[in-house]
Parts: sequence; C-alpha cells; structure tokens
Amino acid sequence: MRICHTSADMRAACDELRRAGRTLGLVPTMGALHAGHMSLVAAATAACDAVAASIFVNPTQFGPKEDYAAYPRTFEEDRRKLEQAGVDLLFAPVAAEMYPPGNTTFVDPGEIGGRLDGASRPGHFRGVATIVTRLFNIVQPERAYFGQKDAAQVAVLRHVVRDLNLPVELVICPIVREPDGLAMSSRNRYLSSVERERALALSRALQAAAELVRSGEESAEAILHLLRTFLARVPDVRLDYVAVVDPDSLLPVTNVSTGALIAIAAWVGTTRLIDNLLLQRHQVP
Ligand code: PAF
Repeated sequence: MRICHTSADMRAACDELRRAGRTLGLVPTMGALHAGHMSLVAAATAACDAVAASIFVNPTQFGPKEDYAAYPRTFEEDRRKLEQAGVDLLFAPVAAEMYPPGNTTFVDPGEIGGRLDGASRPGHFRGVATIVTRLFNIVQPERAYFGQKDAAQVAVLRHVVRDLNLPVELVICPIVREPDGLAMSSRNRYLSSVERERALALSRALQAAAELVRSGEESAEAILHLLRTFLARVPDVRLDYVAVVDPDSLLPVTNVSTGALIAIAAWVGTTRLIDNLLLQRHQVP
C-alpha cells in the first residue's frame, strides 16, 4: 500500500492508476477504523479495480466545543488494517495540507446542512462538504463509499454531488452493529462500561419503532412519541433529537408509509451518539 501525505503526490498516484485503466474507489475516513469502515473498504475492493482510503481528522467539521483534539488517532493500527484489506493507496495529509494558509473557499450545502446533526452542530456539514469535495477533486474516484450510520451526511453529500455535478457515484453501505445492536462508531471507545450498556438504548428504541411500524403504525407522531418515552426512561441518556424525515431532504414527514428515515442523536454521558433506521417505501422493517 502506497501512503501519500501531500495532495500532489496523491493526485499523481491516482492519475497513474486511472491511466492504467483501473476504476478507482475512495473510502474517506477520519481514522480510528472499526468494522463499519472495513465494510466500506470491502465493498470498494469488491467493486473497483483499485481502492484509495483517506485518513484525515477534519478540523472544519468540529465545533469549537467538540472533540477535535480528543478524537482518537490510531494511525499505525489503521494503516495495518487498510493494508491487510487490500487498499492500494492511503492518503494521510496533515491539516495544513488540506487547509493551507490563505485558503478561503468552502462548500456550503445550504438549508439541508442545517437539518438534523446540522442543527445541533452548526457548520458541521459545511466542513464535511468542503473536505469531501476536496478529496473528490484530488482522488477523482469513480465511486466513493460512505456509511448509512451518518444518514444526514449521506443526504448532504448526495445534494453536493448533484448540485455541483461531481462525476462520482456515492455508494452507501448498511450500518454495521455490535452483536448486541450498538451501531459501530469511533466514538464508542469514549464510553465507560456502564455508558456502553446505556448506549444500547438507541438501537433498542429504533427496534421498538420498527416493531410499531411492523404492527401497522404509519404516523410519525406516534413513532416519535414511542422514541421519546423509550429514551426518557434510560438514565444518563440525554436526547439531542429524534426525527422522522424524508431521507433525501431531511424534512419531517407525517406518515411513513412511503418510506422515511427515523433518526436519533443522544448524549450518553459526555459522548454524542447517533443511530437510525431507514424505512424503504412499502417495506416493512
Ligand atoms: O464520516 C466521516 O468519517 C467524515 O465525516 C468524512 C466523510 C470522512 C469527512 O471528514
């Protein structure tokens, strides 16, 4: 696996692969890799001739009071996992490489960037849209792989790709869960063992919502009521939001019969976790 630290080096390495006629898949990450990330890598290696991954803890998507400094950085371990998984190229720039002095241009996704996590984390999706667009321009992948766990990020990036006519196909991979249901997240490692137990409330609340929908309930209000009462009973879990929205626009829906995204964000102790359930049109979960 070749490791590139500069944009110029990475672009040259990607150009070389493309010139050799190889389709290129990109897996953008912030490192601290877990089985969820590795499922993106597996999907990319299965569908593309060559795979590039990036590890970059992107400062512009963190708010001033968020965990940018504390975010887990486990480069050696990550490098080993990517190499073993057959990744061809790893892009690992420093912050000054992605945001050199004097850079002033950002990608602002507009209103959608202020919904769900964008409402709780002002500027977050502007940071995500900016870094992902920069990575796309450097790597120029045919396909790029993201996890459904970040459902709002997926909606924002679909808009960015559409609005800016970016020549890349977004491939969205299902949420990977621990055996007990907890959605995999790099932030799970912040949880104490008691908090880890409490954190199960998110996936269990979603399972209860799925049951309710299976039993024939279509009203978003009824689903929201169930999620709120379920989560209110769990100590040390503080709700940030529960939402039943259209998965593309992230705007609230009143009825889920034509498909919906049921999303939760909650604080477990000092750790903010998210999880969601995607109801496809006419599909019972
Ligand atoms: O999902 C993530 O890990 C990040 O938001 C991403 C897409 C790598 C951009 O920094």
